[in-house]
Amino acid sequence: MHTLVADTSEQLSQLGADLVARTLAERPAAALLVATGNTPMGMYQELARRRADGLLDASQARVFQLDEYVGVPEDDVRSLYGWTRRSFVDPLGIPLEQVTRLMADGGDLQASCQAYDERVAAAGGIDLAILGLGPNGHLGFNEPPCAADAPTRLIDLTPESVVSNAVYWGGEDQVPRQALTAGMNVIMQARHIVLVVSGAHKQDILARTMHGPVTPDIPSSFLQLAPNVTIVVDRSTITSTSQPSVSHAT
Ligand code: F6R
Repeated sequence: MHTLVADTSEQLSQLGADLVARTLAERPAAALLVATGNTPMGMYQELARRRADGLLDASQARVFQLDEYVGVPEDDVRSLYGWTRRSFVDPLGIPLEQVTRLMADGGDLQASCQAYDERVAAAGGIDLAILGLGPNGHLGFNEPPCAADAPTRLIDLTPESVVSNAVYWGGEDQVPRQALTAGMNVIMQARHIVLVVSGAHKQDILARTMHGPVTPDIPSSFLQLAPNVTIVVDRSTITSTSQPSVSHAT
């Protein structure tokens, strides 16, 4: 695992954006797995700024939604597809035909997961997975306990994730209890994984992610086994237990 430490939130956004920009420069039609959540939003805004300044062209990128609540229609403010569009797809000018959704508002959810995995396979796998870190070590909604090769599937949110998601929607009663998530296997097979982590409250889970035992109880600990992982983190999140593998961003 390679770690980039940012001194400010602006630097965190820039470092994350640099990694996406590099991927797109090397492969304009790269397949990107795109998280919502609060942590990567500054990075997405930085990417949109670069596009507006003519410094970035993401028009050929293929976007894969990371996760979606079950039973939430597209026009509901809680739709994670809607959030992905507002924060990433639309500001970067990516045509909607290049976006693969997790269809979770009715219908056959199993078939929906299968269709998603077929699209990932047809794309040749994920080039870059942009992830945030859940307070319980979830990646996407791969909730603990989770196998390293868990497929794309229907999942019950853990109580911890209901609490963390309540911040987005104004209360636990607003948080759907089920979701579809891209499988841990999709994440682990990505050619490059960027994990963006910010905030003192993530110190402990980040230390476990990087240096704790590799265990289904902390799904993010499987990243220790992935071939190419970059952790972009702010200084306040790095603890003494996380320090050994740090290389400082300049
Ligand atoms: C979002 C997602 C989640 C979040 C994680 C961290 O699509 O899948 O795994 O990345 O819960 O959320 P934030 O960034 O809000 O702390």
